[in-house]
This record gives sequence, structure tokens and C-alpha cells, in this order.
Amino acid sequence: DLYSINRSSLKDAIVHFGGGCTGEIISPEGLMLTNHHCGYSQIQSHSSVERDYLTNGFWAMNKREELPNPGLTATIIVRMEDVTELVLKGIKDDMSEKVRDSIININIKYIEKDAIKGTHYEAKIRPFYHGNEYYMFITETFKDVRLVGAPPSSIGKFGGDTDNWMWPRHTGDFAVFRIYADKDNKPAEYSKDNVPYKPKHFFPISLKGVKENDFTMVYGFPGRTNEYLPSYAVDMIVNVSNPARIKVRDERLAIWDTDMKKNDTIRIQYAAKYASLANAWKKWIGESKGIKRFNGIQKKEELEKEFTKRIQANSEWNIKYAGLLDKFKTAYNELTYYTIPNDYFIEAIMGIESFTLARGAMPLLELSLMQPVNNEDIKKQTDKMLQGAEGFFKNYNANTDKKIYAAMMELYIRNVDKAFYPAVINDLQKKYKLDFNRIADEVYAQSIFTDKKRYMDFLASYDAKKSKKLLSDPLYVIFESFWKLYLNQIAPNIQRLNMEIALLQRNYMKALREVMPEKKYYPDANSTLRVAYGKVEGYEPMDAVKYNYFTTLNGIIEKEDPKNDEFIVPEKLKELFDKKDFGQYGINGLMPVAFVASNHTTGGNSGSPVIDAEGNLIGTNFDRVWEGTMSDLMFDPDRCRNISVDVRYTLFIIDKFAGAGYLLNEMKIVK
Ligand code: ARG
Ligand code: GLU
Repeated sequence: DLYSINRSSLKDAIVHFGGGCTGEIISPEGLMLTNHHCGYSQIQSHSSVERDYLTNGFWAMNKREELPNPGLTATIIVRMEDVTELVLKGIKDDMSEKVRDSIININIKYIEKDAIKGTHYEAKIRPFYHGNEYYMFITETFKDVRLVGAPPSSIGKFGGDTDNWMWPRHTGDFAVFRIYADKDNKPAEYSKDNVPYKPKHFFPISLKGVKENDFTMVYGFPGRTNEYLPSYAVDMIVNVSNPARIKVRDERLAIWDTDMKKNDTIRIQYAAKYASLANAWKKWIGESKGIKRFNGIQKKEELEKEFTKRIQANSEWNIKYAGLLDKFKTAYNELTYYTIPNDYFIEAIMGIESFTLARGAMPLLELSLMQPVNNEDIKKQTDKMLQGAEGFFKNYNANTDKKIYAAMMELYIRNVDKAFYPAVINDLQKKYKLDFNRIADEVYAQSIFTDKKRYMDFLASYDAKKSKKLLSDPLYVIFESFWKLYLNQIAPNIQRLNMEIALLQRNYMKALREVMPEKKYYPDANSTLRVAYGKVEGYEPMDAVKYNYFTTLNGIIEKEDPKNDEFIVPEKLKELFDKKDFGQYGINGLMPVAFVASNHTTGGNSGSPVIDAEGNLIGTNFDRVWEGTMSDLMFDPDRCRNISVDVRYTLFIIDKFAGAGYLLNEMKIVK
């Protein structure tokens, strides 16, 4: 039922949505559910001040009103295959990693190409168990995916960043799309002649509801997990890397927040950027706290002790695996040293928006310095940059970015070892005594990268001779010095150590499965199709606190705050609540909204179907609880919970709130 190549199975209704989220097909006419936050940019792209679908929601009242989304894809798995033997053909134990990698890459290209010969499919081979196994995925990608409906943000994003990663949660985080195909049911670019895709399978929707301890399963495309790291790695992440990245983002978020609160234009310009910066920031905080409370590092150390004991007692294992953990220790010690400048460079220095624009000028400089100069290529490049600039400056405030600039420079200098200061720091010390506010004032008043008109004018009249002006731009000079430092002193070391660690991790993974076979090993997430299973259950995050497993509309009314745009409740929803007009979706006078369960999920599982023991849809996954975000490193079924919208709330909103109940006619409802 989960997977079959001979007949239809559940996997035929699972969609990799836009490459980053998951979706599920819920009708024989290609109707698909995913999260509101997954469809956010599509909903935004159809919105304007006059037709603000983000604020008011959108519902197509028939198929002709559905909105096409150029560039959006829906990928379905046709089949998968263990190709380990083929991929590792020609590999010998004593090969260097470089040689090994290049043989593997050649093998992969060949196998992939061969697998899809004469079809419209695509093939992707991915390493599993850190390169001990390889699987191939044959996929079919649909390119005409239309927006059918989305609730207003006051439902789809209710609770905003305040409630993000938190339980109890009351977000109706769903959106509805439809996949279209050509008349032969094959993928095709958008055309008005396309017809709704006829899937091999779609999920029946259960209105039976969820009870504590019910079986649940999540089927989707989780992005990345790292369950088999040694203690040294977890130590580095939670005690060095996360704190550095959190500290930098604390400052960036605070500066943006102050300016957004002062000015509505800035608030709108920075809303989406703020949300995505805050999302990972909050996850890291939860992750570090969770590992500490769970004694995660200590647990890893205990496992390593037992591992070492068993190896020492077995001469064959001793030959193969002794010294593995010591090598990890040395490598992570060194990596920890480079991680600090690396994190500060990526998070602080490249967090300066004008620097990202300066980075974008590097290809132009390269073209300008080429002999002979190709003016056509230069023109193409400046056209591209001019186009990109519209989007950049639309959501850019130079004064806000100037504050970020001064703060980030200061942070870097104060927290990073002098060995990683860029050359330009000497000049800045001599000329300005490293007074970054003064430096920022001067640089932002002059640079072409901090003003739309200066930037556009410069590019519009650009020719290769003007590269001198670019190279001497006060902002570019400082950016380039940092960039060179990163390229020469940070990146190569990080790369070298990661390569070393990849080899150790591959051997460690193999060793763990061999030496401790009584444990269960599921491969780390890698954006390929996975199932997770668990139970509907609440949890106890700390002493004296116990969380129930579901929330209801009552909680939305309790959280309402008309003065805070994250907690506005639409009038219509309040009316339905007052009249207890919940239709067939409510139960005992309550309208269920969300529930938690012990499925191991991660980023990418957003929009994944949550399925009951009969394969019916009971919810759509959209988040995890804060106390459990450590699950990317260590999953613990006692405290890690995924959060789903109850499908009854989804249908209630579609039917009773939005008046788009006609969509239910094409669904299969199980009562
Ligand atoms: N935390 C969820 C995820 O990792 C939801 C993010 C979107 N929601 C938000 N309020 N920013 O993607
Ligand atoms: N919100 C996440 C996503 O967009 C899923 C939650 C998680 O990380 O578990 O994929």
C-alpha cells in the first residue's frame, strides 16, 4: 500500500512541491493540499494593494478562476531503486576520497542517463547512510500548478512568528493547488488547453478525528537530519556554532524590528525577510536548549564508550575501526576553530544586504578584466543586474542596512580571532580607529551599492573601463577584502575538514550498524521520499507542565488581539464561533484546529499528509514543537512532536468560512 511499482499506492499521491515542501493529492482531478507558508510566495505574487490575497485570502469559484504559477513544479515519484552496487563499481578501499568521488560521480551520471532513456522522466541518485548505500529516484515533474485557494493570513499564518515553532498552536496553515497535465495526462508547460491531472492515487479524507494514541504516519520529503553524528559534532553545533549564529541574528532581528515598528514601508519591505531569518534563529535556540535538557552530548558519549568497548573486544573490528573516534575528535577540534570565522562571515558579513549586491558585481568585473573585452557579454550581464536590482531595492532601506553594516562589522571584529581579520582592517584602524558608525556613514553616502539611482545610472552607462570605479567603490573595497579572506583562509579549510569528516562519518555509520546491530538505523533525511510513524500524543516539556494533544477554535478566540497583526481574528470566523456553526466538522461543541504527534519530521515535511491507520488523510503537517527541534540531531519520542492542521479545520475553513464547499464534491470523504 505504501509503495508499489505494479499498481497504484500511497506514494502516487505525494508531491514534492516546488522542491522544498510536500503536498498531497486529494481528488481524482489533481486537487492538492500543502501549507499556506509553502504557497506564500505564489499567493503574494498574485496580490496587489487592490486585490490583497495575503490579507483577504483567495478562492477560485470554478476551474477557470484558478491562477497559474510560472516556475512552480509538482514532482511525483515514479519508482525507486537500490543502485548501491552499480554506483560503487570500481571503488577500492585504499582509494583517496577525491578519486573515489570522481568515480562515483561518473557512475551516477551514467546510471541516471541510462534509466530514463526514451522517457520524459528524470532520475536522481542520492547517497544514504552517509555514502554506504545509494538509491535512485525516477520522477515525473508537472509544470502547470495552479492556485485554487488560500485562507487569509489571519488564519493561514495566525500566531505569526510569535507562535512559530510553538505549541499550543492555532494556525490554519494550508493552501489548495491543482496540478494540470496535457490531454495524455503527461506534464506540460502552462496552457489553457491543459486538463486536471488524473493521479494514480488520491487520499480519502477522514472526518473521524484523532484520539490520543491513534496511529499516525507522515509521508513526504524531509530535507536534512543528522542523527548519527559523534558527540564532538553535537558539542560544536550546540555550544559554538548555534550560539554564534543566534547572537548575530539577535542583533540583525533587533535592528530590523526597531525600524519596522517605526515605519510602515520598512515593515512591509522587511516582513518576509524577517520571517525567514527568525525561523531558523528560533529553531537553533530550541535545538541547543533541547540537547542540553536531554543531556544529548552525554548520551552520545555513553554510546561512544560502549562502541569503543565492543571494538576493543573484537580483533577484526579493532583493525577496521580503532582510532575512528579519536580522528573525529581531532577533526572537529580543528573545524571548531574555523567554524567561528565561518559563521560570522556567513551570518554577519554576508548579512549586510549591500554586500550581497556587491557580490553580484563580481561576474561583471571578471568580464571587464578579460582580454579582449566582449562588450556583448558585458551588456547581457549589466541588463541582468539592472533587472535584479528592481527586486532588490523594492525591499531595501539603505538607512536600516547602514545600521546592520556598523553592527555586523563590530560583531565580527569583537568575536573573531585576529588571524581572520581581512587586510582592509589595518587601513580602517589607521583612518577611522575602527569607528564603524563613522565608516558606515561615509561608505553609505558614497557607494553605488547603497542607492538605487546611483547603482542604476552606473550600470546603465557601464563599459569595461568603468571597472576601475567599481574596484575603488568604498563599499566594494571593504567587501572584497572580506571576500578574499573567506576564499583564501576560511572556505578551503572548512572544505578540507568536511571532506575528512565525510569519510570518517561514512566509516562510523558502517561501524555502528555492524558493532551495535541491536539498534535501529534509519538513513538521515536527504530530501527524498520518506515515511515516519508515531502516535497522536501530548507531551511534558518541563517540570510541572503537561500539554494536551489538540487545540480548538476556543484558543483562537482566547488569543485574539486586534492591536497585534499576528493575532487578528476575522469577523466571519468569530460569527461561526459564536453560533457554534461548525457543520459536520465540529465535535461536542468544539471545532478542532491542530494536533501534535510523535512523528520524526523536519524542514521539507511542511505540507506532508498525516495519515491514519487506514491510509486516510487526517491532517497536514506544518511545524514541530520548540522543545523538540533538537530532533534534527537527536530524535526523542518523549519530547519531539510534529504539528499538523486537523483536516476537519481545513475543510471547515474551505466550506463554512470561504464558501468554497463545491471543492468537497470532488473529494472522497470518510465519516
Ligand atoms: N517553523 C515552520 C517551518 O520551519 C513554519 C515557518 C513559517 N511560519 C512562520 N511563522 N514564519 O518552516
Ligand atoms: N515548517 C517546516 C517546513 O517548512 C516544517 C517543520 C519542521 O521543520 O519540522 O518544512
